[in-house]
Amino acid sequence: MSDEAAVSYNGPERVFSGVQPSGNLTLGNYLGAIKRFVAMQESHDCLYCIVDMHAITVWQDPSELTRATRELTAAYIACGLDPARSILFNQSKVTAHAELAWVFNCVARMGWMERMTQFKEKSGKHKERASLGLFAYPALMAADILAYKATHVPVGDDQKQHVELARDIAQKFNQDYNAQGFFPVPEPIIQGVATKVMSLRDGAKKMSKSDPSDMSRINLTDDTDAIAKKLRRAKTDPDELPADAKGLEGRPEARNLLSIYAALADEELVTVLDHFGGRQFRDLKEALTELTVVKISPITEETRRLMGDPGAIDKILEDGAERARAIADPVMADVRRLVGFV
Ligand code: TYM
Repeated sequence: MSDEAAVSYNGPERVFSGVQPSGNLTLGNYLGAIKRFVAMQESHDCLYCIVDMHAITVWQDPSELTRATRELTAAYIACGLDPARSILFNQSKVTAHAELAWVFNCVARMGWMERMTQFKEKSGKHKERASLGLFAYPALMAADILAYKATHVPVGDDQKQHVELARDIAQKFNQDYNAQGFFPVPEPIIQGVATKVMSLRDGAKKMSKSDPSDMSRINLTDDTDAIAKKLRRAKTDPDELPADAKGLEGRPEARNLLSIYAALADEELVTVLDHFGGRQFRDLKEALTELTVVKISPITEETRRLMGDPGAIDKILEDGAERARAIADPVMADVRRLVGFV
C-alpha cells in the first residue's frame, strides 16, 4: 500500500501510548517507555493509557487487576507524568476502544495477525488454549491509537511490529471506506539507548515482568538490597569492559548493563564506554547499583505515597477518561457513518 493516506492526513500531532497493569513494572518498562512518555509531554499533546483490557487477554485476578491499575497510575505520576498536562486514564473507561477494535477486527486480515511474533511467543506450544483476545490484541492496540487519531506512538522495541500493524489497519480502513486521510498512519517512536533492556540472567532475552525468575529483572518496587543483589548476580563475561561500541559485539551482557547505565544517567553510550573501558564488571555493577537506587527509589516512594489515597487516583482516572471521551467520541461518530451503521 502506498503512503498516500499518510500524506493526505492533515490533523494535529498527538501522542498515544499504553502500559499493561499486569505484574510489576520493570526497569525495561521505565527506560524503554515511561521515561520517554515523560519527555514527550514537553512537546506534544499526549494520552497515556493503562490498558486493562489488554491485561485480561491472559487471566488476571480481578482484585489484583484493580490494585495494579491504581498502582500503575501512581507509578506514571511518580515517574513524572502530569495528569493536568497529559491525559491519564484506563482503557475500559472509554468504550470507543472496544467499539473501534471490533471494526478493526473486520479490517485486519488473518494473515496479518498470524505473523505477530508476540502472539507466537505468548501462546507458546498451546496456541489452541490461548484466548481469542490474545490473538486479536494488536487490533485493540490499533484502536487505542486511532480512536484519538494519534500520530506518534512511543514504545520499546518489542511493540514495533504491533504499531506497524496499526499503520496497515489505518491505511486499509482509509482505502476500504474511501476515506483517504481519515486516519493518520501512526509513527512508532523508538528512541534512546534502552529501547530493548535485556534480562539480567541472559543477555539474549528481553527483561520482562512475566519471566519466572525475579532475578532477571529490576522491578520499580525493588528496595536497595534487592537491586544490589540482582545487579551483583547479573550475568557477565570474563573480559574487561570495552572502550568502544565495536568491542560490544558478541557481548550482550556488557552491552545491556552499559546501556542501562547510559539511559539512567541520561548519557550517550560512547560516554559511558569511555568511562568504563578497561575496567572490570565489578566496578560497573557497583556504580550501576548506586545510580539505579538514586533514580528508582524516589519513584518507588512516591508511588507508595500516592497509593495511600486510592480515591484521589480514581478521580484522576475519571477526569482523564472524560477528556479522552471528548476526543474519541466524535471520531467514533465518523467511523459509524463511514462504515454505514444507522
Ligand atoms: P507492555 O505493557 O508489555 O509494555 C509497556 C511498554 O514498555 C516497553 N517495554 C520495554 N522497553 C524496553 N525494554 C524492555 N525490556 C521492555 N519491556 C517492555 C514496551 O515496548 C511498551 O512500550 N501492547 C502494549 C501496550 C499497549 C500500547 C497500546 C502501546 C496497548 N495499547 C497503544 C502503545 C500504543 C504492551 O503490552 O506493553
